[in-house]
Amino acid sequence: MIRTSDRVNQLPGYPLAEIPAIKRRLLADGVDVIDMGAGDSDYPPPQPVIDALREALDDIRYHKYGFQQGLPEFRAACSAFVQHRFGHAFDPVKEILPLIGSKEGLSHLPLAVCNPGDVVLVPEPGYQAYIGGALLSGCEPRICGLRPENDFLLDWDSIPGDVLDRTGVVYLNYPNNPTAAVAPLEYLEKSVAICRKHGILLAYDNAYADITFDGYRAPSIFDVPGARNVAVEFLSLSKSYAMTGWRIGFAVGAAPLIGALKAVKSYVDTGPFLAIQKAGIVALERSEEFVAPIRAELGRRRDAGVAALRDAGFELESPKAAMYLWVPLPAGVASQPFATRAMLEHGAIVLPGAGFGPAGEGFFRVALTVSPERLVEGVERLGRALAGHSGGELARAP
Ligand SMILES: Cc1ncc(COP(=O)(O)O)c(C=O)c1O
Repeated sequence: MIRTSDRVNQLPGYPLAEIPAIKRRLLADGVDVIDMGAGDSDYPPPQPVIDALREALDDIRYHKYGFQQGLPEFRAACSAFVQHRFGHAFDPVKEILPLIGSKEGLSHLPLAVCNPGDVVLVPEPGYQAYIGGALLSGCEPRICGLRPENDFLLDWDSIPGDVLDRTGVVYLNYPNNPTAAVAPLEYLEKSVAICRKHGILLAYDNAYADITFDGYRAPSIFDVPGARNVAVEFLSLSKSYAMTGWRIGFAVGAAPLIGALKAVKSYVDTGPFLAIQKAGIVALERSEEFVAPIRAELGRRRDAGVAALRDAGFELESPKAAMYLWVPLPAGVASQPFATRAMLEHGAIVLPGAGFGPAGEGFFRVALTVSPERLVEGVERLGRALAGHSGGELARAP
């Protein structure tokens, strides 16, 4: 009999896993699908970045193993970006590590810094790589519910001191997926202070650092004095430059932490494709120029989506950041059957809150991945899907 490991058997189902196959089937049946599911927008990466990749492909040097060192120029560009964007200096060789997308680094982190049995604090609803990283490294995930009454901030006061003493890593992600919440600096200061007190490594997932609206600027965890001793930050090129499929991001932090993550990676991968690192330099060096139109487009989509949802009777605030709307369902409507009905009967794909863990129940997530016009149409379909649900009455009829 084929046996699989307890660690793998414990993994919860991945929320996005079945959707692509169902979407393909719907498209093959001629359904006009509006995909507001995965955080993967419909616009292309910046043309100069694509051109840089094309050029790199013609250079044999970029077809070789990169190993963990990668392209020194890419590390230098990461370091310069962090300096320019956040005002913090990090050594490109010892304090920066290229990643095959930030997900890879986030999920490998507990292997690098925890021992089996250590607690890993996992925010829920949240990005699934955190619980995956905890379980695959033999750690004990402790689910920390993010609740609207706490502005979706992880509630430190709800975690007993003895649990904090056994905790190796906490994941914090602001701007947040899926709730789109942002964290005030005072909250990050409190988090750093608690991590220092209990010897916890704070893994700060800043994948949406540059996807912000209305003049809001997302902080780095290193804006908090003393954070360098307890935190590592993960940055991604995926969302800021529409490069999700390229798989490129990087970790920033103190040399011993970066060294430990590098040691894990040296046994499991050989670094991001060098041609992609070469093109990534162009993205990072011209960051503001490339992110501004993406931010503006996502802002238009946010406004259209929020207005359409409110018109349909859903109640939600307009988020300051990230590329998601986290929408409460009427009491008594379960998110999974609602999302399934919306997809199968109305061709509108959104993610059920429960897919981000039980604490996400009662919500669904709309990704701003289609044009404002398509979002409005998608929301109309969601309203119809809800109307077909018993107990799905909204404040105003859709
Ligand atoms: C919160 C969060 N962190 C990290 C990632 C991963 O990004 P990357 O493409 O860099 O692996 C995502 C992707 O959706 C995300 O939502």
